[in-house]
Amino acid sequence: MTDAVIDLGVSDVDDLIELEGRCFEYHWTRDQFLLGLESGAYRIIGVRRGAILAGYMAFSMIEDEMEILNLAVHPDHRRQGLGEALLARSFEICAAEGVTKSFLDVKVSNDPALALYRKFGYKKIGVRKKYYPDTREDALLFRYDF
Ligand SMILES: CC(C)(COP(=O)(O)OP(=O)(O)OC[C@H]1O[C@@H](n2cnc3c(N)ncnc32)[C@H](O)[C@@H]1OP(=O)(O)O)[C@@H](O)C(=O)NCCC(=O)NCCS
Repeated sequence: MTDAVIDLGVSDVDDLIELEGRCFEYHWTRDQFLLGLESGAYRIIGVRRGAILAGYMAFSMIEDEMEILNLAVHPDHRRQGLGEALLARSFEICAAEGVTKSFLDVKVSNDPALALYRKFGYKKIGVRKKYYPDTREDALLFRYDF
């Protein structure tokens, strides 16, 4: 059965924090999730598998631009198409909202994410040196035109 991608809300914040803790050293706080969910500054979609939140994606849409803020799949559920399902659902939402372009940044060493974004047609447009506070790694900037 295909995993359903659903909209997440304030009641999902505990599960989002748990998933973040499993996926990132430097992760979003409760306040960062609540800020987005309560103010509508960004949208969060996810996939549940039973009691587990298996993946989520946060993205903002401002006028005709979408920015991917975070995307994470639980380590036990990777390589099963969830990252792809989340990204595909965000593209559907963007199409419905008249979004024409998408941007993201990703660590230069993050091969799985780079492969996923390239598979969806994102093109590298720049580099931000030592961008990430946790590892001081460079960020690669990517763009996709819908
Ligand atoms: C990046 C991430 C979200 C991918 O999620 P996923 O559910 O495992 O990805 P999918 O199963 O949907 O894979 C889709 C495509 O991504 C690429 N990909 C995913 N994992 C990969 C890996 N370990 N190595 C190489 N390519 C990979 C492949 O192109 C794959 O397509 P294919 O299966 O036809 O080869 C996941 O690895 C993750 O959560 N990583 C930690 C958090 C993170 O770095 N997030 C990105 C922040 S920018």
